[in-house]
Amino acid sequence: MQKVLILNGPNLNMLGTREPEVYGSLNLAEIQAICETKAGALNLVCEFVQSNDEAVLVAAVQQAVIENLPVIINPAAFTHYSYGLRDACAQHTAPMIEIHLSNPHKRESFRRNSVVSDVVDGTIAGFGANSYVLALEAIAEMIKTQ
Ligand code: DQA
Repeated sequence: MQKVLILNGPNLNMLGTREPEVYGSLNLAEIQAICETKAGALNLVCEFVQSNDEAVLVAAVQQAVIENLPVIINPAAFTHYSYGLRDACAQHTAPMIEIHLSNPHKRESFRRNSVVSDVVDGTIAGFGANSYVLALEAIAEMIKTQ
C-alpha cells in the first residue's frame, strides 16, 4: 500500500484545548485516527508526525523526497516564515499538499502569506479536521492520474 506522510508543525500537539473556537475540539490523536481510517478506505497507509522543531520537519520532508513519498503538511506557524521548510518542500518528488484547519485568509494579516503555497501542488484550508480528509482524497486522485 502506498504510504503518505502527514506532517504537523508547532503547537498542533495542543489541539483539543488550543483555541477550540479556531481549531475545533478534536485533539491530534483523534485527527490521526480519522486519517488512518480514511487512508485505509483509499488504499493508503499514513504515517503521522508532529513536531515543534523546524529541523525535525525539514528532515522529515527530505526523507519523503528521498523515498518519493506523497506528503500532506500542516506547517502551522512555520507556514508564514520558514524558508528552510519551504526550500525542503520545493524539492518534493511526489504529490505534496499544504493544509490548514482554519482559513488563514480570514484571520490576522500575518497569516495571509504562506511561504510554502507556491512550491506545493495545492492548499486546502478552512475545513477543520476535514482538511486532512480532503487532502487524503486529493492525494489518492493524484496518485491515480500520475
Ligand atoms: C494553522 C494556521 C496557522 O496560521 C497557525 O499558526 C497554526 C495552525 C491551521 O491549521 O489553521 O498553528 O496551520
